[in-house]
Amino acid sequence: MTYENIIVETREKVGFIQLNRPQALNALNSALLAELNTALESFDKDNGIGAIVITGSEKAFAAGADIKEMQTLEFADAYLGDYFSEWERVTRLRKPLIAAVAGYALGGGCELAMMCDFIIAAETAKFGQPEITLGVMPGMGGSQRLTRFVGKSKAMDLCLTGRMMDAAEAERCGLVSRVVPAGELIDEALKAAKKIASFSLPVVMMTKETINRAYETTLSEGLRFERRVFHSMFALEDQREGMAAFAEKRTPNFKNR
Ligand code: HXC
Repeated sequence: MTYENIIVETREKVGFIQLNRPQALNALNSALLAELNTALESFDKDNGIGAIVITGSEKAFAAGADIKEMQTLEFADAYLGDYFSEWERVTRLRKPLIAAVAGYALGGGCELAMMCDFIIAAETAKFGQPEITLGVMPGMGGSQRLTRFVGKSKAMDLCLTGRMMDAAEAERCGLVSRVVPAGELIDEALKAAKKIASFSLPVVMMTKETINRAYETTLSEGLRFERRVFHSMFALEDQREGMAAFAEKRTPNFKNR
């Protein structure tokens, strides 16, 4: 498959996707979305891939949904076509997805980063939900995910004023997991992804699924789910191997079984 709006590569066991519409600061149009979903789903199905990294350019992770594509949209078309619902496919991936963000992550760009499992930010990163300045509000999960991740006060502040926050503020409020110098962003994200890909793939996938449960259920149901999944891990050869390797003071050789 040839892609026009993204660059897709494999780095060892890591799927690497770079958003590539530099002329529009990686604004997310429907062609880019279709390509992104195809690439992500093919990495997700590929047994040789253990984690995926999405990044943009030095200037912009993505400056939002494509305003020029959206500006003449009619209500009936938006409603009947369930505009933006295709983005949910990103959140159905079962393998870990890391967003490596430099520059602008605004509107849909911030929302795409939040669909990933965690965000590593360059010192240059700027996050925001400026939709209010365009006469709309977030439409790809921003009002819900941002509120869960950073709390009501900051989500209200960002969505109602449309202001941007820098990487340090984003780290302080828990939106990003770590901030690194811009020149080290891709290396750091790939290093994290390769580390994840070195572990037992079923265990990695079950860990992601279980943490995501925390956002969908009560604490007692979440704890019960965690325990059931934890128990099931003792059916895996990888549990035997991981614990034997520890006892024998050697590196484990996970078979993904
Ligand atoms: C379409 C965009 C774009 C976008 C930038 N461009 N953002 N095109 N959609 N979201 C285009 C510009 O039109 C311009 O094209 C080129 O990219 C470079 O942008 P500049 O504005 O010239 O760059 P700069 O001056 O450096 O300013 C960077 C910026 C600004 C601060 C990020 O581009 C900006 O404010 N962009 C919009 C950010 C935004 O509002 N995002 C939210 C979108 S709505 P030309 O052809 O002129 O060179 C959204 C969710 C909507 O994401 C949900 C509602 C349903």
